[in-house]
Amino acid sequence: MESNKGSFRITGGSRLVGQVTISGAKNSALKLMAATLLAQGKSTITNVPDIADVHIMEELLTRLGCVCSYDREAKILEIDVPAVPGHRADYDLVRKMRASINVLGPLIARVGEVEVALPGGDAIGSRGIDFHIKGLTDLGATARSEHGFVIATAPNGLTGATISLDFPSVGATENLMTAAVLAKGVTTIENAAREPDVVDLGEFLISMGAKIEGLGSPNIKITGVAKLNPTTHATLPDRIVAGTWAFAAVMTQGDITVHGGRIEHLEVPLDKIVEAGAVVTSTDDGFRVKMDRRPTAVDVATLPYPGFPTDLQPFVITMNSIAEGSSLVTENVFEGRFMFVNELQRLGADIHVDGHHASITGKKELSGAPVAATDIRAGAGLVLAGLVSDGVTTVEDAFHIDRGYPGFAESLRALGAQVELI
Ligand code: UD1
Repeated sequence: MESNKGSFRITGGSRLVGQVTISGAKNSALKLMAATLLAQGKSTITNVPDIADVHIMEELLTRLGCVCSYDREAKILEIDVPAVPGHRADYDLVRKMRASINVLGPLIARVGEVEVALPGGDAIGSRGIDFHIKGLTDLGATARSEHGFVIATAPNGLTGATISLDFPSVGATENLMTAAVLAKGVTTIENAAREPDVVDLGEFLISMGAKIEGLGSPNIKITGVAKLNPTTHATLPDRIVAGTWAFAAVMTQGDITVHGGRIEHLEVPLDKIVEAGAVVTSTDDGFRVKMDRRPTAVDVATLPYPGFPTDLQPFVITMNSIAEGSSLVTENVFEGRFMFVNELQRLGADIHVDGHHASITGKKELSGAPVAATDIRAGAGLVLAGLVSDGVTTVEDAFHIDRGYPGFAESLRALGAQVELI
């Protein structure tokens, strides 16, 4: 897919009303794709979103010797994995997409060696991989960092161990789970991440023949097997995209039915939306969010799942910027995640940041201006801010938004927004 280097041009003032259908989760699909490396042969993943990051992961897998074929209409991706995949993920891909480091676990398990470029920081803060490395070392690998790469080897295979994470990191839990499935003996990951994406990956691995217990709990137990088989699996619907539409309904005093949105994956954010004044109802295949007044400001602290997701934090800050009253939003997961606040301030938002706290005083309306997307969620948050701004807002660097929201402009237009890509 061509990356969109352009801008979103939004004329504010529309109430969003109608229906959206949620595609497969970016943060699940990318991990399932990396995990196919664990078995020789053809795996099939359905409900794969047509977004830039999926195509970057296809490129990475192709460089590792896989043959990928994506059916854009059907959203089905087939990956044919060779007997011996390559073992190197270069910086040009890792810097474009951090989820490239998810090949670390599968490759060390399957090939016994792996070199992955160090991802460095990004627009939401410094993002270490020390938990990934320490966990692999606990499993018997040797790992070192050299010339911008993390190089890990385990020529005689990995051995099960008890690994305790200092923080329930999503990426580390995924890499260690995908490493441990082929290790000798039993691995326990303590303080594991509980995100639905981690559960989806675990179920994918189980369908390949892995033995995993405790998915969705802080203690995951993996009993290694000698070999895994290719599989077929449907990607989980994207809870962050579903949550984005929920906030869009609240902010524009709209009425949006979110087909495929799983209420059970969004309990805390939907509770916050109800606190802000919306009516949330469950439907046959998703949920509906209806709002008929200006939202009331809500206090939020981001936390690992099942807490309020850091990926929805830009939307709650944007909502609070136009809400009745003052609020405090605390970011506990990524320290750099308030960077986009400077852009919101250009739209007139009254926000003061102090460390990992943002205090917000709501205004009736923001004031349209040119702003720039700094990352996927911040970019989508600024587009929603444009919807509740007086006049025209342009959000530059729209490619960030493409990375997570397939057909975002089309969906917004279908709901009645005045949005174009320029
Ligand atoms: C994933 C998601 C991202 C989401 C995040 C938290 C993908 C592609 N990205 O990112 O959208 O916001 O989960 O839900 O799935 N940390 C360390 N050392 C490590 C690993 C993590 O210090 O070895 C820190 C990070 O810097 C961060 C925190 O732990 O402060 C959480 O990171 P983590 O859960 O690993 O997030 P990602 O997997 O990178």
